[in-house]
Amino acid sequence: MAFVVVNFQELSTHARVLRDYGLIELAPSILSADFARLGEQVRAASEGGASVIHVDIMDGHFVPNLTIGPLVCEAIRPLTQAPIDVHLMVKPVDRIIPDFAKAGANIISFHPEASEHIDRTIGLIKDQGCKAGLVFNPATPLNYLDYVLDKLDLVLIMSVNPGFGGQKFIPNTYEKIRQLYQMRARYNASFRIEVDGGVDAGNTAELAQAGANTFVAGTSIFHTADPAAATRQLKKLATQALSQKA
Ligand code: DX5
Ligand code: ZN
Repeated sequence: MAFVVVNFQELSTHARVLRDYGLIELAPSILSADFARLGEQVRAASEGGASVIHVDIMDGHFVPNLTIGPLVCEAIRPLTQAPIDVHLMVKPVDRIIPDFAKAGANIISFHPEASEHIDRTIGLIKDQGCKAGLVFNPATPLNYLDYVLDKLDLVLIMSVNPGFGGQKFIPNTYEKIRQLYQMRARYNASFRIEVDGGVDAGNTAELAQAGANTFVAGTSIFHTADPAAATRQLKKLATQALSQKA
């Protein structure tokens, strides 16, 4: 009979880090995927350990680019068990929310600048049975959280200005995530901290140590020969960075 020796000291330190930082999740953004092979690409990312699929919805008005609608969300729904994380860059935002909920979205996030009544929009998302997220552009202050942070499941920090994949990561994101992490602890809130834009193997570890636990990555996953391996590598880097905290 084999015995396993458990080091309770080590176990409790890991449990504390896990409690404080949350489990690392990779959320590949299909914006950079090959749309002619979308199903295959979503499956590859899932195989690499993606536990969320990030879907960017742009309206050509709130942001300059125009992307996809609920139909594509509906098309990928049967291909993965992973929750679909819909990032709405649409203004006004309320009208389109039920359409994405019906199309299979599990998490719906919006920008405060796109809603006249932020609290009402959060309620609308929850009434549709989805988790709600609020998104902060690089120059948007975190004060928008002041009266709603207990209602949010997710806070998404943009590390590029929204609108396009493949942009350069803005370094003051680290500090913003650190502030958000402290704010969450101060108010005993439980939202996940997601980072989106220019995320790659060069910044993932520092982002995890700053407090991010959900990593959106488009180019660094889908513009590679092996999206599954790229997903696996980013997840490993973030997880290792957290274990150094233990
Ligand atoms: C940008 C989008 C991002 C984008 C990320 O407005 O919100 O989700 O797809 O792509 P990369 O990882 O290429 O910056
Ligand atoms: Zn996004």
